[in-house]
Amino acid sequence: MTLILGLETSCDETAAAVVQDGRKVLSNVVWSQHELHQRYRGVVPEIASRAHIEKLTPTVEQAIQAAGITPQAIDAIAVGNRPGLVGSLLVGVSAAKALAWALDRPLIGIDHVQAHLYAANLDRDENGGVLYPALGLVVSGGHTTLYDMDSPSVMTPMGRTIDDAVGEAYDKAAVILGLDYPGGPNLDKLAQRGNPTGIDLPRTLLGRESLDFSFSGLKTALLYAVRGHPRGRGPEATFERSEKDLTDEQRAAFAAAFQQTAIETLVIKIRRAAHTMREQKRAPRSLVIGGGVCANSLLRIKAGEIAETERLRLCLSAMPYCLDNAAMIAGLAHDYLYRHSVSDLNLPVIATTSM
Ligand code: KG4
Ligand code: ZN
Repeated sequence: MTLILGLETSCDETAAAVVQDGRKVLSNVVWSQHELHQRYRGVVPEIASRAHIEKLTPTVEQAIQAAGITPQAIDAIAVGNRPGLVGSLLVGVSAAKALAWALDRPLIGIDHVQAHLYAANLDRDENGGVLYPALGLVVSGGHTTLYDMDSPSVMTPMGRTIDDAVGEAYDKAAVILGLDYPGGPNLDKLAQRGNPTGIDLPRTLLGRESLDFSFSGLKTALLYAVRGHPRGRGPEATFERSEKDLTDEQRAAFAAAFQQTAIETLVIKIRRAAHTMREQKRAPRSLVIGGGVCANSLLRIKAGEIAETERLRLCLSAMPYCLDNAAMIAGLAHDYLYRHSVSDLNLPVIATTSM
């Protein structure tokens, strides 16, 4: 039996978790900073790193206690060291180094984006996880990328967003509709009771074969549909209407139209990517989706439909593991430990992903 303690501080969640043998989550503690950033309607890096410093130690203690183990029982320390806000990453990485040194255990640096895809394996037994080759999609606040996956840690990007990530587009659309931060989940909730009939928002597919994404046109189209065309440019621009003029019914209708268009775009690209892999004689066996937007109600329904018609095993992250968490970091680290691919105390923090 192998126990790994994982830490995650890449953005605005302070998280620690203990995972047994890469699958069984013994504890998963997430302290969300949403309240601290709410009034700014976005993450403020300096506030985020300070809050990580304050919350990480109690979060780690709680994760160890909830797992019912002692620190000495931990076999390795894993930490998300890329990509993310550098100041935030530094807090988790410094704490992980201190723990690895004090307990004399291996340290494993983990790519946060890869970990989002690993999350589909958590709380599933050996027979229920991802089968390879797999088609992976990471949909989060920072990423919208399709992967041809060979294993939990070996994958090739097939397409990515050329502007906004889909989660970012959700957050911006939520601001346009006057919804509270974090916008994505609120917009999803509202969309479920809206009727989008009569609202036509553009779906950007780029070239006929393209596996890349673009969401900035959709966001601008929503802005103009809600507020009318701007007079003037930039911050000086004035609009015909305010989002405050919307009735509840209109607001829900716009949310539903946005949701339908954004998710339909993802669906089309997933199907294209599955087709591309088959053409390259790498027929995928699973469809793996991870990241915050994997919690989206419509995406989960549509992914089920794709998996059925394309005959893929559906591997969606379970709800507690869609948003940022440390269980996905500790889980993926098991694969690295098993292959003796560990880091040393010089482990750097890196703002961007190499994937
Ligand atoms: O993976 P995550 O927690 O953080 C990043 O690595 O970026 O993803 C957060 C993103 C946010 O943009 C949030 O609005 C979006 O995921 N999100 C959703 C939903 N829940 C979270 N977007 C659409 N529908 C949801 N239900
Ligand atoms: Zn994330």
